[in-house]
Amino acid sequence: MNFIKNSKFDVKVHFILEGTEPKGISKDLAAYLKDLDYKGAYKAVFSQIGPGTANLVIVGLGKEEDLSLNRYRMAGFEAAKALEAAKVQEASYYLEDFGELDKEEAFGALIEGSLQQAYAFDDYKSEKSESHLETISLMTDVEVDKLVEETKNLVDGVNIARKLVNTPSMEIYPESLADYAVETLEDLGIKVTVYDKEQIKEMGMTAFLSVAQGSNRDPRFFVMEYLPEGADAEAIALVGKGLTYDSGGYAIKPANGMVTMKTDMAGSASVIGSLYALAKNKVEKNVIGIVAACENLISGKAYKNGDIVKSKKGTTIEIMNTDAEGRVTLADALYYAATEVNSESIIDIATLTGACIVALGQHTIGAVTNDHKLFADFKSAADYSGEYLWELPRNEELEEAIKGSEADLTNSVSKGGGGAITAGLFLEQFVEDKPWVHLDIAGPSHFTSSWSYYPKGATGIPVKSLYNYIKSQAK
Ligand code: BES
Ligand code: ZN
Ligand code: ZN
Repeated sequence: MNFIKNSKFDVKVHFILEGTEPKGISKDLAAYLKDLDYKGAYKAVFSQIGPGTANLVIVGLGKEEDLSLNRYRMAGFEAAKALEAAKVQEASYYLEDFGELDKEEAFGALIEGSLQQAYAFDDYKSEKSESHLETISLMTDVEVDKLVEETKNLVDGVNIARKLVNTPSMEIYPESLADYAVETLEDLGIKVTVYDKEQIKEMGMTAFLSVAQGSNRDPRFFVMEYLPEGADAEAIALVGKGLTYDSGGYAIKPANGMVTMKTDMAGSASVIGSLYALAKNKVEKNVIGIVAACENLISGKAYKNGDIVKSKKGTTIEIMNTDAEGRVTLADALYYAATEVNSESIIDIATLTGACIVALGQHTIGAVTNDHKLFADFKSAADYSGEYLWELPRNEELEEAIKGSEADLTNSVSKGGGGAITAGLFLEQFVEDKPWVHLDIAGPSHFTSSWSYYPKGATGIPVKSLYNYIKSQAK
């Protein structure tokens, strides 16, 4: 999809505030809209396209006081959807209402929403989805070239994450995930170092290896260094959960809970996707992505409920539940992020707990943090990005609950609830007091049906928040 400026195409799209009328429409059409009771309510779309018609799409923005960037995203999405349904190739967008919002940002959101509409995961379908919409002309004096470029790169990053998450585990396994990172990122000046099983052993990541040992596919640990400020400056470390499949292990999941577990590497996919967008847009901030990738399977070699494993840090972990494997792998990855790279702060992204979905619903990321400033800044970026985020409350009782009876820590707290919080507090043990935010994306990483401008399946959340947060930290 291309965006140009100020070309008048036959098909016009007007974005209007509720209760207003699109400029320049005929009296007849105005009367017709009145008959239809079309008022421009948020997400309300009027579409009349074809020979002898007005060739007009109207998209409602709702009331001025309710305007937000996300409403513009949604409006762009609805517009592109209506154009695509009518197989339109080129159209002009008319947008003049911005309320209190920045014009440029509003156009950025409109562009993003239109691009969001173009995504489909049809790699495995015999019949591919067609797309007709090629050119959108923005009728405005706003400078849009840089905006278009930046937004396209960001949405490409989101779509990279979606593709990785949607692709089944027979194709995305530890080795192929690492290869993908190398192929996608190295051309952009990101150094990707991949460690195999023997090297992981030498690095002392025995907790990570215990989860990996049940699979015939060997694990990979990989580090992606994007250092535009030079190697001496501190970096933000992004640590992504990289379970390319989670069967639950001996604490096996029921069949329907297991089908979607190809998505258990969504955290690592979001790290790869956001690094792509950051490097493409030349954001001036050092970032190091870290992924411990493996499969959680059952075999004669697999780890078992009741095992006690030792982490790279030296802390011992009682495996009360082989299905609480994410935190066991992240323990070593986070400790690496805290001690082996020049990190100023750490953000981990993980499809960690079903409990988080119970607590917040499937659309919202649950956060656990040890640093209020870092969280507040990240929250602003998430709000700006239109991704829902909420901080989970921590307390001494839950901090106590993660202690093990026969080892230092337990990987699964059986009593007292708060499973999303105890999982986060477990991870905190490995960040060595560095400023840290944990993002539990078990819910919003993928949806069972389409919602808002998100397709069914992988969403690419939280690539936009990561991107916008890191951009806000750039000099
Ligand atoms: N990968 C799952 C969490 C998950 C559940 C992600 C649903 C997406 C959708 C994780 O490894 C897991 O199984 N967690 C357990 C932890 C429990 C055993 C303490 C859970 O949430 O049930
Ligand atoms: Zn699990
Ligand atoms: Zn898992």
